[in-house]
Amino acid sequence: MPFGQILYIKGIRMIILGINETSHDASISLIKDGEILFAGHAERYSKQKNDWYNNEDIYKDMLNYGTPTCIAYYEHPQLKRSRIFLRGGAADWKPNIPFDLPVKYFSHHYSHAAAGYYTSKFNEAVIVVLDSIGEWNTSSIWIGNGDKIKNVEKINYPFSFGLFYSAFTQLVGLMPNQEEYIMMGMSAYGDHSKYFDKVNSYFPSIKEQKYNFHKGINDLGWITENDKFDIAAAVQKVYELRLIEFMKYAKEKTGKRNLVFMGGCALNCSANTKLWDIFDDIWIMPNPGDAGSSLGAAAALYGKHINWKDPYLGYDLGGEYPVNNIITQLIKEKVVAVATGRAEYGPRALGNRSILADPRDPAIKDKVNQIKKREMFRPFAPVVLEEYAHKWFDINFASPYMQYAVKCLQPEKIPSVVHADGTSRVQTVNKNQHPGLYKVLENWYSITGVPVLLNTSLNIKGQPLLNDLADVQAWQDMYGFDII
Ligand SMILES: [Fe+2]
Repeated sequence: MPFGQILYIKGIRMIILGINETSHDASISLIKDGEILFAGHAERYSKQKNDWYNNEDIYKDMLNYGTPTCIAYYEHPQLKRSRIFLRGGAADWKPNIPFDLPVKYFSHHYSHAAAGYYTSKFNEAVIVVLDSIGEWNTSSIWIGNGDKIKNVEKINYPFSFGLFYSAFTQLVGLMPNQEEYIMMGMSAYGDHSKYFDKVNSYFPSIKEQKYNFHKGINDLGWITENDKFDIAAAVQKVYELRLIEFMKYAKEKTGKRNLVFMGGCALNCSANTKLWDIFDDIWIMPNPGDAGSSLGAAAALYGKHINWKDPYLGYDLGGEYPVNNIITQLIKEKVVAVATGRAEYGPRALGNRSILADPRDPAIKDKVNQIKKREMFRPFAPVVLEEYAHKWFDINFASPYMQYAVKCLQPEKIPSVVHADGTSRVQTVNKNQHPGLYKVLENWYSITGVPVLLNTSLNIKGQPLLNDLADVQAWQDMYGFDII
């Protein structure tokens, strides 16, 4: 049904279904009168990591929260089709719309911008979107003013911050568009100086890239197995330098002191921290990649700020937060698996689908890495009571969604949550944000004198975060310990 055929009063009485798919992380969102009713990832229902398509089960769950009256889609499919036809890349572009409802299409980067700005508290901000590639856009700058979002600059393929990072992710033997976070973790173990000049020559300034990274890095002659950590360090260094240049340029161009940062590049928590030196305040929606754009498209159609309360927006396992059980288990076993309430919308487990552990024990990092069958160098993140965060970490802002890596100030006391470079990807928690997790930390602090726990995602190897009871059962059968 063409969108114009229905009576449409902007922002009033619509139940908007936002859809993102044919990308590397399909999702849907449902909003009504500016309230988020549901937001979830397809992969959690299909159990296929990075699922490109939404499925019957996620739509079925969504219908428990409301019946959509219209649809917002996160891309212009025909424009994407033209890019695939002319330049290659992702092989699918055609959305599957499962309801006979009016559909409005928004551009890929506009959906990112709307997801960020309309969930922020800002009334005025510069919005920067950096990813691998949308339809054609790869980098864009917008101004948010009141409820309006206006584009001020777009840069097209092949220039791309995301493709630069992904090409090197592939070069060091990881999956591009999926495992960039692992390469970021590797960078802490390397020496950036060895390959800096070489990597920098590929991306010497924000006006210039001397390579089409979409094709991957082909001159493998200069890499050996031992070099991978040094290359990761050089790539992270060059990325950070260019990111800082780009952000300064965006600030200068718009005169705005608040930043909304979106797109897959906003998941680079080591680089994100440096942006606090440039801006007065920063909002990164906790699902800044393409999966967040189902909410972005829905918000774009609503056309004004929506009520962002927290990221617990997905499948509901129900139940009270098991505060006492968690503490009892932590004291006994030092590790506890928790699955309760609504699933997190976004890549991070923030307490509802989490493994929590005692960060004081130096052996815990290896133990949890073994449980999760991850590479042993991979670091774990701390969750800390917000009011004590500044005493344990070099941080003077709240970080409720694990988006910033900052220096740990007492690494000898919590060795299992400190990375090789002395930083930690901190999640701060206050009473309003998650009363149950806050209570756990408060009790833990009164027992141990340490207001910090290790927090990592609860998932079976190679699979998405646990979602429903069947996943909980599968985990318990496989690993032989209970989830509470
Ligand atoms: Fe994107």
